[in-house]
Amino acid sequence: MKTKKRILVTGGLGYIGSHTVVELQEAGYEVYIIDNLSNSRPGVADRIASITGIRPHTEIFDLQDRDRLLRYFQEHRIDGVIHFAASKAVGESVQKPLHYYRNNLVSLMNVLEAMRASGSRHIIFSSSCTVYGQADQMPITENAPLKPAESPYGNTKKISEDILSDFAGVSDIRVVSLRYFNPIGAHPSAQIGELPLGVPQNLVPFITQTAAGIREELSVFGSDYPTPDGTAIRDYIHVVDLAQAHIAALKYLSEGKNSDTIEFFNVGTGKGSSVLEVIHAFERATGVKLRYKMAPRRPGDITEAYADTTKANRILGWKARKTLEQALYDAWQWQKTL
Ligand code: WQD
Repeated sequence: MKTKKRILVTGGLGYIGSHTVVELQEAGYEVYIIDNLSNSRPGVADRIASITGIRPHTEIFDLQDRDRLLRYFQEHRIDGVIHFAASKAVGESVQKPLHYYRNNLVSLMNVLEAMRASGSRHIIFSSSCTVYGQADQMPITENAPLKPAESPYGNTKKISEDILSDFAGVSDIRVVSLRYFNPIGAHPSAQIGELPLGVPQNLVPFITQTAAGIREELSVFGSDYPTPDGTAIRDYIHVVDLAQAHIAALKYLSEGKNSDTIEFFNVGTGKGSSVLEVIHAFERATGVKLRYKMAPRRPGDITEAYADTTKANRILGWKARKTLEQALYDAWQWQKTL
């Protein structure tokens, strides 16, 4: 019986992390989680087990604890790492830049140091389309020029990619950096999903909380954008499709198919949807009427972003399969369990 490949998922109790743990277990990997519970709950490990029948090995500590992390890698034969653990709230990062630079960058550097010390060679990094800023051309390809970050959060993603590039160049670490567009939705089992702390910043959790009567009404941030209906366009991808892109990236590295020490892939659907289109898709998918009003643009927002996904399709053999409506339906099923 071939021993299972052991994958460490940092931030594995979080929104994208937990969905990726489910897909990893169902693909036959043995999953280890490190999480500091700064944006997740311990009960998520039980929810994962209720879906897959396997409770992931979970340890609760902060990746900034370098000595503990080095010990952890010495004790566990980790074959590959998927690194989600980071602070991710754009607005908060503007208010707390030092927390964001310290947490996101020191955590990554500790992981890389521990990987090198223990001979673990493959890492999948959770990056973001935010590195493109407002791209000049749609759809956005991986060769699009990177723009100055709009927030300390976005800057930590750019700097992290530089750290990974520089380190991979002088070690035998091999990297795939996945640049996510807009992750939405929840696992169809409604056992796991997004757990926004406080007032949701992102569109879809605000929509589902409005539909649930938790929020009075949705404000549409900007109706004067140069787009067909005046509202901003994004590429909304079902979180399960996104999770499966990580499995494809792991296989790509473990089969030695990578052609460079670090490679970047856009992970989206390739389709742009405006805020109004998302609202109407939600109403069609759920039968729930949404209360919303037009409001001023949100500072820092870009007009339009959607992915050219041909590189991930062709090289990783991965493609998003779920529709916007399915993602919004799954988000609503999850919201109703909260
Ligand atoms: C989407 C659209 C808003 C809320 C951010 C980060 C990105 C990633 C995903 C972390 C925009 C509009 C929103 C609302 C609205 N996060 N909106 N009313 O800003 O594209 O991306 O989240 O990795 O890195 O930058 O996502 O969901 O906040 O906004 O009209 O109440 O919905 O203006 O046009 P965004 P979002």
